[in-house]
Amino acid sequence: MAELPDIKGKTALVTGASSGIGMEFAFQLAALGCNLVIVARNEEALKIVRKEITEQYPVEVTVIAADLTQEQAVEKLFRDMVQNKKQIEILINNAGVGVFGEFQNTSWQKELGMLRLDILSVVQLTKLFLPPMLYHKSGYILFVSSVAAFQPCPLYATYAASKSFIQNFGEALAFELSDTPISVTVLAPGVTSTHFHATAGQPLTSFQKMSMMDSRSVVSEGIRALLNKRTSVIPGWGNKILIFIERFLPRKLSTWFAYKFMK
Ligand SMILES: NC(=O)c1ccc[n+]([C@@H]2O[C@H](COP(=O)([O-])OP(=O)(O)OC[C@H]3O[C@@H](n4cnc5c(N)ncnc54)[C@H](OP(=O)(O)O)[C@@H]3O)[C@@H](O)[C@H]2O)c1
Repeated sequence: MAELPDIKGKTALVTGASSGIGMEFAFQLAALGCNLVIVARNEEALKIVRKEITEQYPVEVTVIAADLTQEQAVEKLFRDMVQNKKQIEILINNAGVGVFGEFQNTSWQKELGMLRLDILSVVQLTKLFLPPMLYHKSGYILFVSSVAAFQPCPLYATYAASKSFIQNFGEALAFELSDTPISVTVLAPGVTSTHFHATAGQPLTSFQKMSMMDSRSVVSEGIRALLNKRTSVIPGWGNKILIFIERFLPRKLSTWFAYKFMK
């Protein structure tokens, strides 16, 4: 197997690092010697993550408490990085939430917050952090999408559509940047054991509980793909096979399967 590039000493910004997949990214990148900027709303949780990481690894961890759904939050984050002369070479666009339920019954405020976080903040972060990467001729960008991105997903109608946006946006950007030193990777996990489902209001079925992956395996596949400059990766064999088969199904049938999987 080819040796992976050394990212020791680079600075990675990880959104949604106070729990779940984002927190795992922070730990695994720190283990590879990266300094970190970790972002989420819960400052106390971020400080605990910083303490645990710095006790284990000789890296610098900066905590930024920010609600990325708020107007100006992304711009402020970018300005802070510029003012503190932090050159972000790895951007992990991970923060995200879901809203579970029939669209006719979901709360508009929750939908709006989700769309702002899962789509707008991600596009804006990328818009702001990409030019310095191009200037310095060095950068890795990772988007956290979902297997829900690959078909319509009743009961997660808007969330799945927002992940289709991220999947397509990320893959298109990877293509546009293919002649530059910047690489773009889209990671599309299946059901993973985090706070995501409780926050979204989704009761997990026994099958989902049985087949769910842990964040550690999801993130290690993500980091391997990132460092290998792969455009897209679906972690776990079960998820890979599922999405492969789905390509051959009529759209209506894959929508029905997605619905059945959720119930
Ligand atoms: N778990 C799954 O089954 C699964 C499957 C496919 C894809 N994903 C994707 O994986 C990503 C990470 O989710 P997770 O599973 O790790 O869930 P999680 O444990 O709930 O983590 C979500 C992270 O996003 C942060 N966040 C939420 N709202 C925010 C806001 N307004 N501003 C800034 N940060 C915010 C949370 O921190 P605070 O609450 O402190 O702000 C937390 O750190 C998401 O993009 C999700 O769509 C998850």
